[in-house]
Amino acid sequence: MSVLRSPQPDQAAALSDLCVRSKAVWGYDAAFLEACRAALTLTADDWMDSELQVAMEGERILGLAQVRGSGQVVELDKLFIEPEARAAGIGRQLFDWCVAAARKRGAIVMTIDADPGAADFYRRMGAVDDGVVASSVIPGRFLPRLKVDLGSGPTA
Ligand SMILES: CC(C)(COP(=O)(O)OP(=O)(O)OC[C@H]1O[C@@H](n2cnc3c(N)ncnc32)[C@H](O)[C@@H]1OP(=O)(O)O)[C@@H](O)C(=O)NCCC(=O)NCCS
Repeated sequence: MSVLRSPQPDQAAALSDLCVRSKAVWGYDAAFLEACRAALTLTADDWMDSELQVAMEGERILGLAQVRGSGQVVELDKLFIEPEARAAGIGRQLFDWCVAAARKRGAIVMTIDADPGAADFYRRMGAVDDGVVASSVIPGRFLPRLKVDLGSGPTA
């Protein structure tokens, strides 16, 4: 199992690149990925207004998770695994961290605006469908919205 830790702001560029590489596993073309790049770019603000966690193997970053918001409803903003590190339990490990981080923030619900390719992963993690939401990147594209009830004990 990989080790989880908080990343540093000077890792922002490396983490942004990881997000783009990871999103590419669903077969998107270069133009689509370029359109997504801004939304997948971390800046110093992310360290101020959200919580971040990375999964490490030695000094290598294998995945990133981000939880944002406060109050009763918080958002799982990012969950990205290096393509060759998928299917090894790291997504689950970071998802569990997101759930714990959301609970620590006092939330009772965690929402996820999911890439369609990842929706079944989130359902596997115990999330349930909660409609769709318009993509902030591509006009006319809709993403599945899922939510996790944080009051119902550990997810499995
Ligand atoms: C979706 C993603 C985070 C899953 O991470 P992962 O490390 O491969 O997942 P895990 O190995 O922890 O899988 C945990 C379980 O979910 C299942 N699972 C993983 N991806 C799945 C998928 N796309 N569809 C259905 N089930 C999936 C696994 O089979 C495993 O099942 P188990 O409970 O029987 O063991 C990863 O594929 C990824 O980063 N994808 C590209 C980026 C992306 O779209 N991120 C989400 C943005 S909203």
